[in-house]
Amino acid sequence: MIKKTLIAASAITLSAFTLTACAGGSEASGSDSDGAIVMGFAQVGAESGWRTANTKSIQESAEDAGIELKFTDAQGKQENQIQAIRSYIQQKVDVIAFSPVVETGWDAVLQEAKSAGIPVILTDRAVDSEDTSLYESFLGSDFVVEGEKAGQWLVDNAGDADVDGDGTINVVQLEGTTGAAPAIDRAEGFADVISADPSIEVTASQTGDFTRDGGKKVMESFLQSDDSIDVVYAHNDDMGLGAIEAIKAAGLKPGKDVKIITVDAVHDGMQALADGEINYIVECSPLLGPQLMEIAEKVVAGEEVEARILTEETTFTQDEAKAALPDRQY
Ligand code: AHR
Repeated sequence: MIKKTLIAASAITLSAFTLTACAGGSEASGSDSDGAIVMGFAQVGAESGWRTANTKSIQESAEDAGIELKFTDAQGKQENQIQAIRSYIQQKVDVIAFSPVVETGWDAVLQEAKSAGIPVILTDRAVDSEDTSLYESFLGSDFVVEGEKAGQWLVDNAGDADVDGDGTINVVQLEGTTGAAPAIDRAEGFADVISADPSIEVTASQTGDFTRDGGKKVMESFLQSDDSIDVVYAHNDDMGLGAIEAIKAAGLKPGKDVKIITVDAVHDGMQALADGEINYIVECSPLLGPQLMEIAEKVVAGEEVEARILTEETTFTQDEAKAALPDRQY
């Protein structure tokens, strides 16, 4: 039986961030005494509702699949993720999976895993590496398409979005973590599509680090320096929810005086959409656990897997959010 337990911090020196494991075998070796697959998973952190749902999906799916999961929370720091991956290599796990905090800087540690014969699966976010032999598969969303969907809604609703009716739609962008794939790609997809309409302009863009608090603080400063903001485009729901707090504090009505577009569709975001405080959400599914475990089983068995596995996603208007909320899993 697989049992969740905490590995003593002294077993592997990982002081700055948390390391938990489902342990069935010894801490020094990846081999489980029951012959179960051992997976080391290096998570980004707990920055958003999306991330919390993603972690839950991975932990529950590992348990359902009988995979022994060694799990680390890197608290948003690339160095912590690299340290965790190195510890998994030392422990000789069967497979490593991770969601890279940022796109670049992974080649050395991925080469170490490859040299140790440990396959790596990327989930949620990609790495910017020319050597695609460093990982087996990348499971996750197409963030460029998500940005395009957000931009398309704005182009299609440009009339309503020109809140002050001055003929220009001033958009402020709340970016995700600097250097992270979803921040880079969601900005790119959005910019590409809105370029079709010269009346839409991104007047300010700053990172809120995918957190509610970050979104609130950046939005407060945008509101102080500009009284002609028509639209907020936030790279995730949490930053959009933070922006809602700032907009209300400035005496304005979110969703009416300032239109809001976000990405994710987690429960709190969907509730704000149903309540009329967000105008449109592009879905990004965090429920990657079941597919990840299937890929891991195949990779460990030496079977071929697809190099790129895309998740299926939709979009939500306010009416669609009202209809979807009762059955929403996260
Ligand atoms: O990589 C996925 C992104 O990371 C989600 O959209 C965001 O909420 C999370 O922090």
